[in-house]
Amino acid sequence: MKKKLFITRKFPTHIVEPLKEYYDIEQWEEEEIVIPREKLLAAVADCEVLWVTLADQVDEELLLHAPNLKLVTNLAVGFNNIDIKALRKRGIMATNTPGVLTNTTADFVMGLLLATARRIPESERYLREGKWKSWYPMQLVGKDVSGATIGIIGMGRIGQAVARRAKGFDMKILYNNRRRRHEAEEMYGFEYVSLEDLLQQSDYVVIMTPYNNDTVGLIGAEELALMKDDAVLINASRGGIIDENALYETLKSGKLWAVGLDVFEHEPIALDHPLLTLPNVLALPHIGSASLQTRTAMLMLNVKALTAFGQGKAPSNRID
Ligand code: DGY
Repeated sequence: MKKKLFITRKFPTHIVEPLKEYYDIEQWEEEEIVIPREKLLAAVADCEVLWVTLADQVDEELLLHAPNLKLVTNLAVGFNNIDIKALRKRGIMATNTPGVLTNTTADFVMGLLLATARRIPESERYLREGKWKSWYPMQLVGKDVSGATIGIIGMGRIGQAVARRAKGFDMKILYNNRRRRHEAEEMYGFEYVSLEDLLQQSDYVVIMTPYNNDTVGLIGAEELALMKDDAVLINASRGGIIDENALYETLKSGKLWAVGLDVFEHEPIALDHPLLTLPNVLALPHIGSASLQTRTAMLMLNVKALTAFGQGKAPSNRID
């Protein structure tokens, strides 16, 4: 008998189709993109395998509704949406998508950094709104990236990829991480500093750390106060790492040059969120890994894990 697999979104048919060899597949295919929670809880009742996105919460409540569950496959490298401890207690495995989105996300972070520093979205609005009358020296002047100091919080795969790119801009690279990265320090000249020093010395602060109990609200009012008055803050990790109220108050007071946010505490961010009223906030809909090649590679990593499990083998990319 084939195992039952439930998929919480409409994924491309050519990606899902080959899995039919191993699974009876049910998929959320309604026009409404997100499966309503009560429908998800009903759908998992008899499934052994669940394929989710980062927007689906796999928690105690869901597990109570899924007594046959053996494997959860997450279409993301971050897995803060999954209660790993609760899974472990029940002997349920989980997999994610490390590695394949490193370069795409790092490219994107540099894009956010350049866009905020050089006021690119604001300048485009200026042009489209018919405000461009002529050229003058101080028109829409930005802030230099080349030669500036970047402070990277979280020196994992993506953090290091951002640092390598920043090196190409002749930036001084500071980082803070749970563990020192001695090899990378030697190879690329990254400098390890305390979080406090990083915040005080950086022109650009980039958050690349995973979201967990240690990093929730890591950047609050006190940390923001340490930053340079004209610093730029970039977050392409998870929204809850920054205290959004404190960020709003900080920006409102005139501190910080700009902020580039691809992630928010609650996604999608409410359109009446105070942060969206500020011109120097560049807000994007969690698209850090959104290139066709990378999203396909992420899906294929999940397929690989699902195929192995379907064949009775250990799935790859297990979260331990
Ligand atoms: C992830 O994988 O965790 C990103 O946030 C989305 O690609």
